[in-house]
Amino acid sequence: DLSQIFDQYFNSNENGLVRLRNPNLKSLDHDFLYHLELGTNDHDFVKMFGDVKFICTGGTAIRMKNFINSIEPELSKKLKTKLEIWQHSSSRYSMYKVGPVLAVNHGIGVPSLQILLNELFKLMYYAKMKNPVIFRIGTCGGVGITPGTVVITNEGVDEEINPYFVQVVLGKKIHLPATLDRQLVRELKALVNSDDPYDTIIGKTMCTSDFYEGQGRLDGAFCKHTIADKMDYLAKLQEAGVVNIEMECTAFAALTYQAGIKAGICCVAMLDRFKGDQIRTSNEVRKQWELRPQDIISRYILRHL
Ligand code: URA
Repeated sequence: DLSQIFDQYFNSNENGLVRLRNPNLKSLDHDFLYHLELGTNDHDFVKMFGDVKFICTGGTAIRMKNFINSIEPELSKKLKTKLEIWQHSSSRYSMYKVGPVLAVNHGIGVPSLQILLNELFKLMYYAKMKNPVIFRIGTCGGVGITPGTVVITNEGVDEEINPYFVQVVLGKKIHLPATLDRQLVRELKALVNSDDPYDTIIGKTMCTSDFYEGQGRLDGAFCKHTIADKMDYLAKLQEAGVVNIEMECTAFAALTYQAGIKAGICCVAMLDRFKGDQIRTSNEVRKQWELRPQDIISRYILRHL
């Protein structure tokens, strides 16, 4: 029963501070966030990150860097002060910060994202961030939508169209609801400009653990299904309200929900999977499209400063 799981794992955070549901953390004399290469002993998290209000994650470091570079002038203008960009790279993840905005890349897929979120939530907690909002901006495959369309996810589903993320702990499966903040979904949609040269839609997103067979592609190193099987599966997804496919949404939704942190997902579709599997859009066009989810999240941030 999902509502029971919800009661068990989710409690709203008090005073806007992130509250972690792990009593063991209290007995650690210091905590080293191994994959971020930041430790509570060596770094003053409150001083470094206490002012962060918006966290933006996405697959690649370069996209995160571009996002911070593009929002810096507008942030500096709005806050009437010249903001400096700070950056820190571990061997796994790269972080960029400007004023109240922190951007970090999460790599590809759930395991990489899940490790980052654990360490990011602890960072939020130790830094005493207040009411942080976290976004995932990314790319995806479309299901019956025009390439270049931006999708705001209202629910994550797994490959069997279940609205939850399955986490295995001590050999046991735990089902965590892949729920996103409905109000935030509406707010993001309201930020669409009538002259945006692309559509922005709301829909369900399917999360997979593979880019190739796991997404029904026919062009991987392996393929044990036919084109008809693929089309049937895509039609089934479409019937269930799925508009796009990527590799992180259920874990992102479930873990942020469990931590009581407001979260949104906004991705641009690189192709329509009914029409093919290969992404053959030119580099230049792809780069243009990748800016679209960034623009929407920038508008949200600038409005909520
Ligand atoms: N990301 C995915 O996971 N799938 C696609 O088809 C495109 C981007």
